[in-house]
Amino acid sequence: MGNPQTIWFNPQKKLVETIDQRYLPFQNLIIEIQTLDEVRFAITEMVVRGAPLIGVTAAYGMYLAALNFSGSNFQDEMKRAADWLKSSRPTAVNLAFAVDEALAVISEELTIPENIHRLLNNAESLKQREIDFSKKIGKFGLELIRSISEKKNGKPVQILTHCNAGRLACVELGTATAPIYLAREAGIPIHVWVDETRPRNQGARLTAWELGEAGIPHTVIPDNTGGHLMQHQLVDMVIVGSDRTTLNGDVANKIGTYLKALAAADNGIPFYVALPSTTIDWTLSDGLSEIPVEQRDGREVSMMEGLLDDKVHEFRILPEKSPVANYGFDVTPARLVTGLITERGVCKATKEGILNLFPEKTPTDD
Ligand code: MRU
Repeated sequence: MGNPQTIWFNPQKKLVETIDQRYLPFQNLIIEIQTLDEVRFAITEMVVRGAPLIGVTAAYGMYLAALNFSGSNFQDEMKRAADWLKSSRPTAVNLAFAVDEALAVISEELTIPENIHRLLNNAESLKQREIDFSKKIGKFGLELIRSISEKKNGKPVQILTHCNAGRLACVELGTATAPIYLAREAGIPIHVWVDETRPRNQGARLTAWELGEAGIPHTVIPDNTGGHLMQHQLVDMVIVGSDRTTLNGDVANKIGTYLKALAAADNGIPFYVALPSTTIDWTLSDGLSEIPVEQRDGREVSMMEGLLDDKVHEFRILPEKSPVANYGFDVTPARLVTGLITERGVCKATKEGILNLFPEKTPTDD
């Protein structure tokens, strides 16, 4: 199976349709989203998740907010919608980026129907941009895999990934998985170690499902296994995604990413982060102190979902009274990152490296 899109606009019904990721891999359901509140629910409850997809969904959310406008002040209402959406999840910068971009396309000079039209075009164009970015990331990442493969005498390149930075987190292809899909297409032997990614198990539930659908050889491992594999030369490279990368190359990604980067550094294994420029926060230069890390409901830690007798059940897996902590993300310092794979090429995780690829983002004094 190829790479169908994860989100699309239904012009007949004037609403957005997306895969409801809460039910994968047990059920593959499509959900209709038609109001601003439904968009916010989809983001907070992780019907959609993954930085690029959150951004695209939010852009559609701004369109739906305008389409359903019935108040007296359109501009004020859109600003309220923007704030409401931005407050849904704090870490992935794609969300704020997409909402601000949508706000910037509306104009007091235009009629409301004209603004609605613009907002839909804006969402569709962000979606297309993310698709293009994923393809380019795939192309650049493919060359990294190819060069490792050339030294392996036909043995599979062993790639470890964390969480889901696949097509489910984007629109098509994914970021971390884009090079993997293209390597597969190019006939390069590969095998993917999929971190289960507690507590929500995006690796076990989503990445494993995605790779399985695409026929890519993979093995799901408990989160603690990566270091052991690396010590035994069973990992050739790590590729992960990012929710927010600072201008100096610090990378926020799913909790546990930092530990993989430490283990990779200790074992001399290249650690790559694949990300579109929509995930770079050009205003930040210290990930640890500046990137807001989401803390989520403790139930994600204390409860676990699984299939029993063909039915999905939720089980408590720890003592009822034990407190839990549920940090959604961690920050991997730039010094542990071998390279950033972007839509413009691979660069060092440094300000110079990033600005060399994106010179138009060079900060000015004013
Ligand atoms: O909490 P999630 O599932 O939204 O977290 C997703 C990740 O951490 C991904 O690795 C990241 O968004 C990159 S997606 C291409």
